[in-house]
Amino acid sequence: MVFLWYDSRAGCRFINDMLIFLFKRINIFRHLVPKGIFMQANFRKTDFIPQPKAAGDANKKTVIAVDGPAASGKGTLARKLAERLGYAYLDTGALYRAVGLATLESGGNPDSWQDVQTAVAIITRNLTPELLASPALRMPEVAEAASKVAAIPEVRQALLDYQRAFAANPPGNVGGAVLDGRDIGTVICPNADVKFFVTASVEERARRRFEELKSTSPDKGAILSQSQVLADLKRRDERDQSRATAPTKSAADAYVLDTTALNAQQALDQAISVIRAKFLSETNDNAAALRKPPQP
Ligand code: CDP
Repeated sequence: MVFLWYDSRAGCRFINDMLIFLFKRINIFRHLVPKGIFMQANFRKTDFIPQPKAAGDANKKTVIAVDGPAASGKGTLARKLAERLGYAYLDTGALYRAVGLATLESGGNPDSWQDVQTAVAIITRNLTPELLASPALRMPEVAEAASKVAAIPEVRQALLDYQRAFAANPPGNVGGAVLDGRDIGTVICPNADVKFFVTASVEERARRRFEELKSTSPDKGAILSQSQVLADLKRRDERDQSRATAPTKSAADAYVLDTTALNAQQALDQAISVIRAKFLSETNDNAAALRKPPQP
């Protein structure tokens, strides 16, 4: 009896789903499936997402760019997409937050390159997943400092290589990477395979950020009111959109996803449909190109 081990880790799940998909379509094995020869929990048709690979391009990693303003839901969407596709995930906002926090801790002014450069040097030498996941980075004053340091072109330049290297060679020998931020589709990975620009009304974004701060703040008494959170978001949006270098902007070829009335699962479902449609059409194009007789 063949038993396919089901593992919730997305990489294993993807390979497993591929095998199940193939077995179900090979006539000789079809009658065995209902008898439970091939066992798998929760197989859903929607889990199968073919990955397009052009001939001679086997080592190229798939890149998905997720950009958008603060608290639009881009981080949640990007993380869930990475989980679903078995890709590596990079929250690029955490890079700017780390530089902002290090600048504040040194007593420096986050608007001044003079004060920020030591922090950048320290952070770029010590970028680890643990550092980027630190809860201290989520504090509102760190978000404000991040937005200030992010407007300095030298800071953006210093963080560029790390982000591009992550996209080209994601850790863990996986098939691709999902990066979320403000300029992934426009500056960091302009050739990303799929681009999303995630938006939501500013009131809804403030409500979400307020709830997030309430549930994660260790000191419940110190959290801001919802109207203060709204004012902070508006100020940060304005700074992020109007800066000269890499402002928050939708790439011309991005799919705009308005999450105002969507929950996280609905946003994920829409994004998966977009990715599946894109990958399927590319797979068909690649197959058609391969079928074409060589030109004399
Ligand atoms: O979570 P939230 O959307 O509030 O912010 P974030 O993504 O953690 O980013 C914090 C700040 O970093 C933003 O306000 C931007 O100024 C900056 N940032 C950026 O300039 N470019 C990126 N790719 C990511 C973040």
